[in-house]
Amino acid sequence: MSKCSVVLGCFYGDEGKGRTTDYLAQFADVSVRATGGNNAGHTIVVNGVKFAMRLIPSGILSGKTISVIGNGVVLNPAVLLGEIEMLKSHGIEVDKFLKISDKAHVIFPYHSNLDVMLENRRANKIGTTKNGIGPAYCDKYERCGIRMGDMYKANFEAVLEHQIKTKNEILAAAGEPTVDVEETIKTYKEYAAKLEPYVCDTVNLLHKYLKEDKFVVVEGAQATLLDIDFGSYPYVTSSNPTIGGILTGTGLAARDIGDVYGAIKAYSSRVGEGPYVTELFDAVGDRIRDLGHEYGTVTGRPRRCGWLDLVALKYAIDVNGVNYINLNHLDTIGKFDTFKACVAYDVNGVETQDFTTDEDFLTSAKPVYKEFKGDFGDISGCKTYEELPAQAREYIEFIEEYTGTMIKLIGTGADRENMIVR
Ligand code: IMP
Repeated sequence: MSKCSVVLGCFYGDEGKGRTTDYLAQFADVSVRATGGNNAGHTIVVNGVKFAMRLIPSGILSGKTISVIGNGVVLNPAVLLGEIEMLKSHGIEVDKFLKISDKAHVIFPYHSNLDVMLENRRANKIGTTKNGIGPAYCDKYERCGIRMGDMYKANFEAVLEHQIKTKNEILAAAGEPTVDVEETIKTYKEYAAKLEPYVCDTVNLLHKYLKEDKFVVVEGAQATLLDIDFGSYPYVTSSNPTIGGILTGTGLAARDIGDVYGAIKAYSSRVGEGPYVTELFDAVGDRIRDLGHEYGTVTGRPRRCGWLDLVALKYAIDVNGVNYINLNHLDTIGKFDTFKACVAYDVNGVETQDFTTDEDFLTSAKPVYKEFKGDFGDISGCKTYEELPAQAREYIEFIEEYTGTMIKLIGTGADRENMIVR
């Protein structure tokens, strides 16, 4: 196993990255989050207990892994403190394991208000999570963001007051709710005091761990097709959930990265707006949603569902350098008598296997499907690849051949144990 493995989503998020990371965390000394914020919701089931993780790397659930929130994350302190309390109530020693980058940007209430304001005014809605993610990244790149480490500086109050007043001018002019200056400063000083023990320079820390030969797992958030550069812009999130964002969001170097695991489901899903070539609008899509419990971890929003898109998967593998696939929900797809996967696009009568995120291309692309035999029976107890029924293996081997990439982890049920490792 390489000294640093990365777990990324290949489509529109919710592929089960948390499970891959949780599996790898058995071997990990350190787990890291690099991008995004509490727009993410990773569900991990451990011994029948369901954990909805939003900011803290799911590796912390192993009870032995240092968990780092990297500099690329935008951090809502209220959500983080809630998560810390939730983990502590389950006996997890958060104080021993959690480290937060002093360079992670902080989300303030004006970011959420601006997110709501901008989304409500968009002609073509993105369907953001309204958590202030985009506005917080805007401030980062506009160079007026406030970072975790800034909260402990002498000028913090003055800087925050200036920011609140500036943002309030915009909000008030738009007739949107403004943010109370005194109340916000007071609340954030309290948050800062509670989080101070965890805040440090995580860049140096990660390199120290690597030099000590510790095994680091980086847990991606969101996914390739939600990437600000490589996703279906503008229907994307405001960060780079692809491999480049892992480097800039942690301070790890390219040469540190070994294995890149790409998480997929045996079907596909998307939340929010934007093109989605294999989306099913009929009862089959509804059945996938029900069988796969495809509702937002945090918001409960029903997800759009469809068949697996191998054309898009090949693109995600190329962009990220994925060398192992983690295929989740094999049990779910096996409940269908027959099911399909997209093997090419028909674009205005021309068949192609080349993927691009251009909106016109994606909205005119019609999926060309290959049909597979389902009816796998109960596979949740299968411990080895060979125990899987022939038709399940046929699907897996087809994906491997199509993408030239090995499926190393196979999810056969919701619990931690329901995973075949090859
Ligand atoms: P934002 O990240 O809240 O700005 O939302 C932008 C788009 O990304 C919306 O379509 C969201 O639904 C989507 N999105 C953000 N985070 C996630 C995630 O963790 N899983 C799936 N979709 C996400």
